[in-house]
Amino acid sequence: MKNQLLIGGTWRDGSGDRIPVLDPSSSEEIAQVANGSPADAVAAVDAAAVAQKSWAAMAPRARSEVLRNCWQTLIDHADELAELITREHGKPLVDAKGEITYAAEFFRWNAEEAVRIHGSLSTAPSGANKIIVHHPPVGVVVMVTPWNFPAAMITRKVAPALAAGNAVVIKPAAETPLTALRVGELLEEAGVPAGVVNMVPTSDPGAWFDAAVDHRATRMVSFTGSTAVGKMLLRRCADRVLKSCMELGGNAPFIVFDDADLDAAVEGAMTAKMRHSAETCTAANRFYAEAGIADAFTERLAAAMAEVKVGNGFDDGVTCGPMINAKAIDSIDSLVKGAVGGGATAAIGGAPVDGPGFFYQPTVLANVDPNSPITGEEIFGPVAPVIPFTDTDLMIEQANDTEMGLAAYLYTADIGRGLSVSERLESGMVGLNRGAMSDPAAPFGGMKQSGLGREGASEGIYEFCETQYIATTW
Ligand code: SIN
Repeated sequence: MKNQLLIGGTWRDGSGDRIPVLDPSSSEEIAQVANGSPADAVAAVDAAAVAQKSWAAMAPRARSEVLRNCWQTLIDHADELAELITREHGKPLVDAKGEITYAAEFFRWNAEEAVRIHGSLSTAPSGANKIIVHHPPVGVVVMVTPWNFPAAMITRKVAPALAAGNAVVIKPAAETPLTALRVGELLEEAGVPAGVVNMVPTSDPGAWFDAAVDHRATRMVSFTGSTAVGKMLLRRCADRVLKSCMELGGNAPFIVFDDADLDAAVEGAMTAKMRHSAETCTAANRFYAEAGIADAFTERLAAAMAEVKVGNGFDDGVTCGPMINAKAIDSIDSLVKGAVGGGATAAIGGAPVDGPGFFYQPTVLANVDPNSPITGEEIFGPVAPVIPFTDTDLMIEQANDTEMGLAAYLYTADIGRGLSVSERLESGMVGLNRGAMSDPAAPFGGMKQSGLGREGASEGIYEFCETQYIATTW
């Protein structure tokens, strides 16, 4: 297993201390990886700048074939990669395997897109000249990726960036560098030329980022993580007027109307809430249940939560792993305590699990006040606050009363109502009678402070392109 920095196709030791990697199921150290310094970030951008030129000059079909090999190679190593994810992130092995299929699919999708980056040709309205528009790559892209999907949040950025002809420097999350480094190694095995993908973990993200952003060759930043950090990175990007793509925080409402199929709504709610141990930015964060079904929905959701088996992701039958660290447990617990202090009742759960590791009880909170702090913060844990509603307009106002606008879900038997409410939700993605929506073929991203730009679909590849217009006459 590689535990060094991948820069320009060679594996190098970092400078100074190494980064300890913990198993969140036990909080024990399982590995150490090299720690990238600001100088390493600069070296990685240097290497990317050199490699990018010849990568961009390759025929799109040739790039596409390398990307397709990346898809196949990740699939061929799915079991091994899934085990790494479960070791360092903690999610159940079955979810980790699902993550690898999802992660690999970004390469297959973008292999298909690499040969379809379209421009246009038109005649100027005056008739004086032609207007040719085409889309060259941006150049070197710096990527900062999160720990909740140690593989997929890397491939969702890398695959379209490479398809468009860019080279990348990745700072994987310090919590989950093992998967990232192995993905980097496998991409090289699949034929990605040296220097096109560089992987530099660090325990000093601020200094690392400053160095990478100040490098003249860096032309874009792509980030997935919290809105608070995204704002800091955007400020730094502004200093160099860098293109940026930001996938930031969420606060998804999950709405259940009284005509909904309750079994389907509960199943969808469990997916939307509990997927990948409830640590997703698309996770349902607030459940608005129409008054006629609010009690029944809460009861059935609590019964479904009672079936969740919490534990080490390698153990049979476990469906919810640990949270990433002790800080996450404290933050989840303080939101739960705040809601209960404000009049909510715990239909199930409501506390951390005693013992080693970072576990929280699957929790359903009934009769939550719509203004409780838990409805305004991203929980990032297995807690479902249910808010009964009677007035649809007021509920939509409450659902939209947040700076976040990433995902929303709604269940109703009336598809017309479903579509008209979907249109009124200020959210980049809506699951209508569906609890899952992530798909490499769909544009993932948020409105408002949930982000800028889209990942996936054909939109995703154009994020990593410039637009050039040529005026000419013939
Ligand atoms: C995320 O949590 O950032 C991504 C979730 C997804 O891709 O489904």
